[in-house]
Amino acid sequence: MKLDTIIQHGQLVSSNDIIEADLGISGEKIVAIGQDLAATQANGVKIVDARGRYLIPGGVDVHVHLDLPFCGTVSSDDFDSGTRAAACGGVTTVIDFAIPYGEQTLQQAVDNWHAKARDKACVDYSFHLAITNWSRQAPEIKKMVEQGIPTFKQFMIYESEGWQSDDAAMFSALETLKELGGMLMVHAESSRVLDLLIARHHTPEEMSKHGAYLHTITRPCFVEAEAIERAIRWTRETQGRLYVVHMSTGEGADLVRQAQGDGVHVLAETCPQYLVLDDSLFAGKDGHLYATCPQIKKRHDQERLWAGLKSGEVCVVSTDTCTFTREQKAMWEGDFTKIPMGMPGIETLLPVVYTHGVLEGRLTVNQFVAKCCTNPAKVMGLFPRKGALAVGSDADLAVIHPTDKREVDCRKMQTNCDWSPYQGWSLAGFAEHAFCRGRQVVENHNFVGKNGHGQFIARANVGFL
Ligand code: URP
Ligand code: ZN
Ligand code: ZN
Repeated sequence: MKLDTIIQHGQLVSSNDIIEADLGISGEKIVAIGQDLAATQANGVKIVDARGRYLIPGGVDVHVHLDLPFCGTVSSDDFDSGTRAAACGGVTTVIDFAIPYGEQTLQQAVDNWHAKARDKACVDYSFHLAITNWSRQAPEIKKMVEQGIPTFKQFMIYESEGWQSDDAAMFSALETLKELGGMLMVHAESSRVLDLLIARHHTPEEMSKHGAYLHTITRPCFVEAEAIERAIRWTRETQGRLYVVHMSTGEGADLVRQAQGDGVHVLAETCPQYLVLDDSLFAGKDGHLYATCPQIKKRHDQERLWAGLKSGEVCVVSTDTCTFTREQKAMWEGDFTKIPMGMPGIETLLPVVYTHGVLEGRLTVNQFVAKCCTNPAKVMGLFPRKGALAVGSDADLAVIHPTDKREVDCRKMQTNCDWSPYQGWSLAGFAEHAFCRGRQVVENHNFVGKNGHGQFIARANVGFL
């Protein structure tokens, strides 16, 4: 077969193997893996030399919020800058959350998100749907699953955004999604206790004394743990399928592990910020920049989450990218309840996990590929089209150097943000080259992709590893 591109002599890393081979691309697909593929080709094939490099499946970031109206502003990365950033970070598929506003239907929310993404996306994308009003939106769920959106998020907080779900809505969603082959994703924080703690500390005296550190004082670990415990309980009783998003606590990992041992169908993701940052940051000069929900926790939570990735109860690392610039973050004006919640992350996902996971001995390179590429594709119904270096899979891949590091500098990155949680950090694992569906999107660390190349990917068969 005529090949368009051959990636030569790379170390092909899967979730359970490493082999040295050439990989051949024709059109949008991987069509050959073997030795000396160039010998089978006439002139005209593009050769990428990956000698001494790892070749990994393109990263799959299943938790991003691009162009999201939230906290009185709009997240600053849209499907243009966000997917350029993804490409340079070696991520070739993202899943965003379509969220209905006001009285919108689920269909209107999806149509809205298609319009945001269609002409801008440089890498492939899919959507989850947020259920913000169970009784009104439940009749539409089947139709959404048929449109390739089988994963639905409910928020246990965010009453003021109009997004919050109660226990009855969660219980009902688990029942319904079980029947339809879907999966419920939950943002697990215990809203009433959280509201109480926020109200207790929302005084001028406390705010001038503690500043952004009140974000952490008002969100002790049990706020997340109690909510996870409750969501697991409804999953146990309904025998539904649950995915805990952006899990930030060690206690959460303990609860998920125990439930999995009991046969409850619960999966969990964590994010780089919970693995490598800790809440002492909130006491610093720029502490408010790091505010996100749930907030960054303690060092012992980091270590427990790494251990959960290693032993399996935490199966995915995603980013929860929800970028706000310094100017947007400045909207807080000293009031911790007014900070736009979220941070950039998509461009640094693979480098942070690779550097602090693999190079620091917490994960093997195979586990890194499992958590950032293969498991997210499997759990979200994209595998083996995505998340695999295999003949027949989409030619989505990244070439990374095993040890060469680059300094994170937000001024040189694609992410539309004037700060980075990792500014000045030295990280390996940025994409030297990346391909999305056969098209090169990164060459020698430079973005060479194209708006509109990214396609919507319909999904099915979710919740399985
Ligand atoms: O603070 C965050 N994480 N913002 C995005 C919305 C969410 O809860 O995922
Ligand atoms: Zn959330
Ligand atoms: Zn999120």
